[in-house]
Amino acid sequence: MKIEDSRWLVTGAAGMLGTDVTDLLRSRGAHVVAPTRQELDVTDAAAVTAAVRDVDVVVNCAAWTAVYDAEEREAEAFTVNAVAPQLLARAARLAGARLVHVSTDYVFAGDATRPYAESAAVAPRSAYGRTKAAGEWAVRAEAPDHLVVRTAWLYGAHGPCFPKTMARLAAERDALTVVADQVGQPTWTADLADLVVRLVEAQAPAGTYHGTSSGEVSWHGFTEEIVRTLGKDPAMVGPTTSEAFPRPAPRPAYSVLGHEALLAAGVEPIGHWAERWTVAAPEVLA
Ligand SMILES: NC(=O)c1ccc[n+]([C@@H]2O[C@H](COP(=O)([O-])OP(=O)(O)OC[C@H]3O[C@@H](n4cnc5c(N)ncnc54)[C@H](OP(=O)(O)O)[C@@H]3O)[C@@H](O)[C@H]2O)c1
Repeated sequence: MKIEDSRWLVTGAAGMLGTDVTDLLRSRGAHVVAPTRQELDVTDAAAVTAAVRDVDVVVNCAAWTAVYDAEEREAEAFTVNAVAPQLLARAARLAGARLVHVSTDYVFAGDATRPYAESAAVAPRSAYGRTKAAGEWAVRAEAPDHLVVRTAWLYGAHGPCFPKTMARLAAERDALTVVADQVGQPTWTADLADLVVRLVEAQAPAGTYHGTSSGEVSWHGFTEEIVRTLGKDPAMVGPTTSEAFPRPAPRPAYSVLGHEALLAAGVEPIGHWAERWTVAAPEVLA
């Protein structure tokens, strides 16, 4: 599919990912409608139907992303993360549009020892994960022409994120303590935006894909790289355990996603997290 002159709807367009998807599509010459939450509430069925009517592709970047709040307010999170994707999927099917739906590593239990395949059984351990898993199923049930793209450990220029927090703390303190027993794939929103566009461009078969960087690292290891980028000594970052940092919702210990489906579709996965961080850092930390 030719990106220039194609018509796109990006929901949650003011979010961290939505902003990069919108910017990339515009730079590629696509016609993009990019409503904020105030302009298009994805839980409003009539508004969703009207917004999807005249587009070729919908990218759903809208989500309830407050993982801890979801524990107390699961029904509200479910409305945004599961009911709204169903509305978007139904509207996309009726309009003959493709739906790209962004999901998360939190659909998995996080207790694996090797990368999760796209077909691995979901077993969410948190309210947020349950709502996102339900959203995936709603999309599959309603829109045969879907691309469910799971991502993880997102950071970007247009929202609060882990590297920004660590950079601020590294400037304020002499030493940092960061969990070393949670492993994942730090992923730049600009890289995920690029992957989404490449999947659509390649007319990838409908299905579930993993949109994360390659390789794997702990939060501790990632922080060492962030600190190094700032010209500081990575020895200032000490390791700790998740047990020492109790949280309202469990964080998956092992959130590494495999990229077999991308390779099978002939779409290049995102590069190694460390190489991508080097490219991303000036923009993200600006
Ligand atoms: N961040 C991560 O580390 C991470 C990891 C794995 C997967 N993901 C997934 O990646 C996707 C993008 O996440 P992100 O980091 O870009 O999140 P984000 O910055 O929180 O963006 C989400 C956007 O959705 C909007 N939104 C919430 N409820 C809405 C509604 N009812 N109607 C319309 N818009 C609504 C939010 O608006 P308000 O700000 O006004 O509420 C926000 O602009 C999500 O599907 C998320 O689950 C993220």
